[in-house]
Amino acid sequence: MTLAEWLQQATRQLSGVSALAADDARLLLCHQLNVSVSYVYGHGDDTLGEPDLQALNQLLHRAVQDEPIAYIIGHWPFWNIELEVASCTLIPRPDTELLVEQALSLSLPEHAKVLDLGTGTGAIALALACNRPLWQVTAVDKISAAVALARRNATRLAASNCTISPSDWFSAVTGQQFDLIVSNPPYIEPDDPHLPALKYEPVSALVAAERGLADLATICQQAPAYLATKGWLWLEHGYNQAEDVQQLLTTAGFNKVQSRKDYGGNWRISGGCLNSHNE
Ligand SMILES: C[S@@+](CC[C@H](N)C(=O)[O-])C[C@H]1O[C@@H](n2cnc3c(N)ncnc32)[C@H](O)[C@@H]1O
Repeated sequence: MTLAEWLQQATRQLSGVSALAADDARLLLCHQLNVSVSYVYGHGDDTLGEPDLQALNQLLHRAVQDEPIAYIIGHWPFWNIELEVASCTLIPRPDTELLVEQALSLSLPEHAKVLDLGTGTGAIALALACNRPLWQVTAVDKISAAVALARRNATRLAASNCTISPSDWFSAVTGQQFDLIVSNPPYIEPDDPHLPALKYEPVSALVAAERGLADLATICQQAPAYLATKGWLWLEHGYNQAEDVQQLLTTAGFNKVQSRKDYGGNWRISGGCLNSHNE
């Protein structure tokens, strides 16, 4: 079987589970052969060796069971970096790039201290650390396998300005103050009908009590003690949670409380500034 023939039949099989079946098939092929997409385009008539064909069909079987391609190939792009991913935490989503864009647009001190709560792969923290080499970024997660994963990503990206620690929200940063706190915490309701479609990702990364608001509330309430004057807190949340999160921020004493829409037109991040009033 040639590369082009395998791609064609894999695309057909994946079309039942993926809207991006052809792209997914190509990612599997590139992963197995350890080649670039352009190589695949230029070598469609090459014949696949038997070991590669067998391995590819095993990868395809997993993908047809709806296992995310990112977990199968073990890495995924986010912002302008590539991250190792693993089933101990969330696969970074393009939606979360809105939080990175917002953080990079803030006018913060040149050597800003930044905290990323629930860092997972390290996606937000490492995107910020790599794009602002003078910032000192601290990233925490309560899952030890996620801390190890984020540390591997930091090492591979040579992000020496990012420190990653195990922590239950703020427990490991007692006494510290930051110019910016960001978080994409779990915010899905326990009985959300979309949860079965996310069955490969851990509940610890997805679900929060109190209509998905429990962790967002904890962070809003505790953040002021860890923010410098005029420090910002920005949070990702569900498409229908902006009003609740704005209320949580206002109740916690934040000013300039505001939300931003994603490219789909949904209010997906909210933030506020501490002790700045509306000057
Ligand atoms: C939605 S995922 C976000 C991962 C990553 N920041 C991203 O945007 O791709 C939430 C993360 O919060 C972590 N987490 C959940 N509860 C936590 C807690 N109490 N303290 C610290 N991290 C927590 C989970 O392990 C998971 O990695």
